[in-house]
Amino acid sequence: MYKYLIRPILFQIDPEKVHHFTFSLIRTLFKIPGIPAIIKQFYVVNDKRLEKEVFGLKFKNPIGLAAGFDKDARLYKELSGFGFGFIEIGTVTPKPQDGNPKQRLFRLKDDNAIINRMGFNNGGVKEAVKRLKHNKKVLIGGNIGKNKVTPNEEAVNDYKICFDALFDYVDYFVVNVSSPNTPNLRALQDKEPLTELLNVLQKKNLAKTNPKPILLKIAPDLTDEQLLDIIDIVKTTKIAGVIATNTTIARENLKSDSSLTQETGGLSGKPLTDKSTEVIRFLATKSNKAFPIIGVGGIHSVQDAMDKLEAGADLIQIYTGFIYEGPKLIKDINKAILNK
Ligand SMILES: Cc1cc2nc3c(=O)[nH]c(=O)nc-3n(C[C@H](O)[C@H](O)[C@H](O)COP(=O)(O)O)c2cc1C
Repeated sequence: MYKYLIRPILFQIDPEKVHHFTFSLIRTLFKIPGIPAIIKQFYVVNDKRLEKEVFGLKFKNPIGLAAGFDKDARLYKELSGFGFGFIEIGTVTPKPQDGNPKQRLFRLKDDNAIINRMGFNNGGVKEAVKRLKHNKKVLIGGNIGKNKVTPNEEAVNDYKICFDALFDYVDYFVVNVSSPNTPNLRALQDKEPLTELLNVLQKKNLAKTNPKPILLKIAPDLTDEQLLDIIDIVKTTKIAGVIATNTTIARENLKSDSSLTQETGGLSGKPLTDKSTEVIRFLATKSNKAFPIIGVGGIHSVQDAMDKLEAGADLIQIYTGFIYEGPKLIKDINKAILNK
């Protein structure tokens, strides 16, 4: 129904407007008595065999909503009703910021893809905390970043602020140094600044009574040498794992009009599928599966999900596939895992 009835209508409208419209619609629907139960009945697959323990956390199923969809933690409860096992909020920054000027979100329909240069538009970490205080049962990842105005030399401080503010309200953390839309952010993926950043956060973390898993989210555009560095850094800083991958700055083999494909920003969706799977496979094999990996990037079908798991992902996340395929994709993947 989504793909043939709802999507054609939504895809007539500006993508960012659709995002806000869908949020309002879902929120309204979930306020109508009886509707949440019907939606859950249709989409949630409850089965003990789907449960998975990864970095000390118990996931109801291995499929999560990737960062960027519910940046400000406005809709995580309702979204979990579509069958996700966990929701990652953020990227949040210490201060609120508007992000880049609009238009900054583009649909590449012929490629089943999206280009975005949102630039961490978010209401600031304090606003997210207010909303997360009401959470009782959704497993939440907190994806943290730095404000655009903060120079890289002071970036550690921004991550510390977000870490402290969110500590009591998220189940795991994600250090995002891989968005292409904050100038110079990806320079923090270099060995020295990255080791320092993760060491600082991990030191704070280990000083707590109950430390939380800290994960690193990486770009799909790293060289093999850089990926080997990442393996080294994960081992030396003893963080819990890696999320592979964020969006790509590459623009290979796209069918859409060049007016679209040449837009600046990160490309997500189907053109990213194999690239991110190969990053997962590389990390898993070269590290001898030394740490858990959350696989994300271009999961649009059951097969795409299985490929990520087979390549070495312990959990997976979806963003663009959720928009193109609709919520049934989550149910289909969960069912396929059960039938394996
Ligand atoms: C519009 C949009 C906004 C995003 N914002 C963030 C973000 O704030 N932080 C982040 O770590 N990843 C962000 N991402 C990246 C996704 O979390 C995911 O890593 C990427 O899109 C690849 O997965 P997909 O092909 O399933 O979309 C964003 C992606 C999109 C499409």
